[in-house]
Amino acid sequence: MLRFLHILLLAGLLGVLWDKVDAFGGVRLVDGDDECSGRVEVLRHDRWGTVCDHGWDHREANVVCLELGCGLAELALHNAKYGEGRGAIWLRHVQCTGHESSLTRCAVVLHSNSYCTHENDAGVKCSGTLLTPTLILLSPHTVFSPGEAVRFGCSALLADHLSDLHLYKQGVSTPLVTQRADHAQADVELTLSDIETFHQGSYNCRYRIRGGFPSQLLSSPPSNSINITVVDLLTPQHWYNTSSDAPAGSVIKGQNFNITCSTMQQYPGGSFQLRLIRSNGTVRQSLPALTPSVTFTFSNAQSANEGYYYCLYRVQLGGRTFVSRESQPLPIAIRDPDPLLSPMVISWLVSGLTFVVAVIVIIIVAKVLCNKEKKPSELERETRTCVDNTYVALSINKL
Ligand SMILES: *[C@@H]1O[C@H](CO)[C@@H](O)[C@H](O)[C@H]1NC(C)=O
Ligand SMILES: *[C@@H]1O[C@H](CO)[C@@H](O)[C@H](O)[C@H]1NC(C)=O
Ligand SMILES: *[C@@H]1O[C@H](CO)[C@@H](O)[C@H](O)[C@H]1NC(C)=O
Ligand SMILES: *[C@@H]1O[C@H](CO)[C@@H](O)[C@H](O)[C@H]1NC(C)=O
Repeated sequence: MLRFLHILLLAGLLGVLWDKVDAFGGVRLVDGDDECSGRVEVLRHDRWGTVCDHGWDHREANVVCLELGCGLAELALHNAKYGEGRGAIWLRHVQCTGHESSLTRCAVVLHSNSYCTHENDAGVKCSGTLLTPTLILLSPHTVFSPGEAVRFGCSALLADHLSDLHLYKQGVSTPLVTQRADHAQADVELTLSDIETFHQGSYNCRYRIRGGFPSQLLSSPPSNSINITVVDLLTPQHWYNTSSDAPAGSVIKGQNFNITCSTMQQYPGGSFQLRLIRSNGTVRQSLPALTPSVTFTFSNAQSANEGYYYCLYRVQLGGRTFVSRESQPLPIAIRDPDPLLSPMVISWLVSGLTFVVAVIVIIIVAKVLCNKEKKPSELERETRTCVDNTYVALSINKL
């Protein structure tokens, strides 16, 4: 009684406006199924009393649940659902905006001629913890390439008090995406942009609400989870094999060769595509990648096989086609058989050589003869005389 007077005195000193705050000591839930449900009771002047259910709905019930750290209200109950209280009815026709930190800070409708008895005692059933949010995938598929964005939607059901939403990856304690809540909406888009292979995994969302007294951030339990896959195809390697006498980078016309494409990483249903770019167009062919290395065989190489060969790996996953980067170009030239070994060329060479030798012999003989002419010897003079005489003799004969 002394304390009651003391409080009244204090309230008088502090002013009428603060009367409610000072006079009320707290809120509790009585006779419920657990500590987060029951008849609402408020402490005033050191005595617990009840709340009349006039105007009692979700907004008031939410304030009570948040104040008690019991999440949000699932039910706002009327007509003493959790039994009739005793003593005073401390609050009648209380009207909260929903953002108060305590029921005792909510407005009370004055001059309401409502008649309340304990049969009108208000009750509340709180969620206990916050309601579980729902995560959905807004992107139309679950398999992605690096660099793409993944769009999730997180639905918090109750938008009141919503502070922010977070996207969590399983096994990572800090959220990967945080989105401030707009009070108007309970469905919020959470976009994971420019993804990498390490983003592959299982995701869930949580929301936080601001509430309670003193005001604090309450985190909801995690939502359902959604798995995403990130496909980053490695660039395949490729090489060619042909007969060992072909010079590097070439295949001898008419011979066989083959090109092998190889990858470190395989997916079911994958295939290799070999692309030949030649001067007059492109030729493609593909083979299923049943093994990590696949060989494309070519028999009887012709000039149509000449060009730059590229290899790539492709696979269909989650209804989408994924294609690796192309390997480095592999140039293959088709050569005629080595001309040095051809019998025709050898015969050409032989006849050519014979011709050269003959010419040289003729030149030498001519030179020797010329030298003799410049210094005519005895024998030569005789020969000439002989020739002259012959000529004269022949002339006489003709005559
Ligand atoms: C997600 O992947 C995990 C393994 O990484 C698996 O245990 C779980 O069942 C998957 N969940 C769904 C919804 O596919
Ligand atoms: C095929 O070519 C590759 C690379 O040039 C070489 O390592 C390999 O030994 C060759 N295989 C055969 C069977 O000639
Ligand atoms: C590819 O070519 C090499 C050399 O000509 C040969 O040894 C190998 O057997 C060939 N492989 C296939 C699969 O044709
Ligand atoms: C390109 O040239 C090759 C011979 O070099 C020929 O076999 C092929 O038909 C040509 N392709 C086109 C599209 O003209």
